[in-house]
Amino acid sequence: MSSIDEPSQQPGAELPRLVTRPPGEHSRTFLLRHRHAAAPMGPAKATGGIVYATATGANVTDVDGNRYVDLAAGFGAELVGHGHPAVRRALALQSERLLHALGDVHPSDAKIALCGRLAALHPEPDAQVLVGQSGSDAVSAALKTAVLKTNKTGVIACAGAYHGLGYGPLSACGLRPSYREPFAAQLNPHVTFVAYPDALERAAAVLGEIARLLGALESDVGAILIEPVLGRGGVVVPPPGFLAELGRLAHEHGALLIADEIWTGLGRSGAWLRSVADGARPDLICLGKGLGGGLPLSALVGRRSVMAAWRRAEEVVETSTFAGAPVACATALATLDALGREKLVERSARLGAAWLEELAAALRGVERVAVRGAGLMLGIDLGAHSGAAGAAVRSLLERGYIATTGGGAREVVVLTPPLTIAEAQLEAATGAVVEAVRESVG
Ligand SMILES: Cc1ncc(COP(=O)(O)O)c(C=O)c1O
Repeated sequence: MSSIDEPSQQPGAELPRLVTRPPGEHSRTFLLRHRHAAAPMGPAKATGGIVYATATGANVTDVDGNRYVDLAAGFGAELVGHGHPAVRRALALQSERLLHALGDVHPSDAKIALCGRLAALHPEPDAQVLVGQSGSDAVSAALKTAVLKTNKTGVIACAGAYHGLGYGPLSACGLRPSYREPFAAQLNPHVTFVAYPDALERAAAVLGEIARLLGALESDVGAILIEPVLGRGGVVVPPPGFLAELGRLAHEHGALLIADEIWTGLGRSGAWLRSVADGARPDLICLGKGLGGGLPLSALVGRRSVMAAWRRAEEVVETSTFAGAPVACATALATLDALGREKLVERSARLGAAWLEELAAALRGVERVAVRGAGLMLGIDLGAHSGAAGAAVRSLLERGYIATTGGGAREVVVLTPPLTIAEAQLEAATGAVVEAVRESVG
């Protein structure tokens, strides 16, 4: 293989090397300090976490000197690997030159270049871009754009979906009602949740339900917000053609289709944009996570005629002090270049399909376990085995592999390595994942 096809020749292609059982003493000490100083989140529980010290490519090293293979990639964000050389270079050059500009009053050249590149990703010509810092920002901007364009405040979202925790996206968070409930009185009350389709029959029922909601006389639905593959909800892939049909329905009823490609996009799920690959023509596309190459950056990319809704006689704006930070725009440009130059989107599709097949074959003998996904975004559903996914993730850490859980009851082992992961790392990971799953289901 040429060096372009095999990013494993980049640094960070090593197998795990543990010098102490994780979490080691230094991680435990740091985490005690973290527990004291950082706000508590959720129920009190032992985290068993490690503390990251350095990371390169698909390798992470903790403060105890353990080296891991990263199958989580910062919740999918380290798309081109930790500290990709081109990203580091772009960061260094930009930080020498300009750290901060002046929003849209006097923007940086880096931001302008990035907007042009992102606009070209939209299936319609002449799309326009609004940048933010988090995925939550991009979804908030999309929801606001939909209201401005349609004058309708209703939203259809999915049970199990996650779009971030700002007040806009939180109102459409179907993952865990407990995330919404304390704030319910301050959230958009016009959100209707429908099931996320995991099979053809379910898709027909969901589309029927959406058609009914959109067609109702009193319908105030201006947007359908959807993850093209349910990410945090447990890596659920809708049947082919579902997203295209969803878009068709939305447009028939004067609503917009918002594709939240924050996790799936830019190659993660084996396509530049999963929704477009499935035949949909989303009006608004949200990007984030891997976009900044490790720096916080998100974007809303929208059809020109829709984004035009921001042009109003009475000023309405969507901005923030650090939106379009030059350093993040520079690393995003380097990330987009690396994705194209190293053919990482195609690599994700090819390696992901082979990995899924391999894991499914190896786990075929284990009862009530399902492997699913798209590109390098895989989930192993252990929902029939209570507590098994968490146990498998803990066991993986002890074998030197970092993974996370997903799903409403954290019943799915989620595998989203960097798209640059070396084939040897992936091969070794397969053995570890299969052993960890077998052990955890007893
Ligand atoms: C599909 C999707 N949308 C939005 C978000 C929110 O992104 P952020 O955490 O950057 O606000 C996430 C985060 O996991 C996500 O998976």
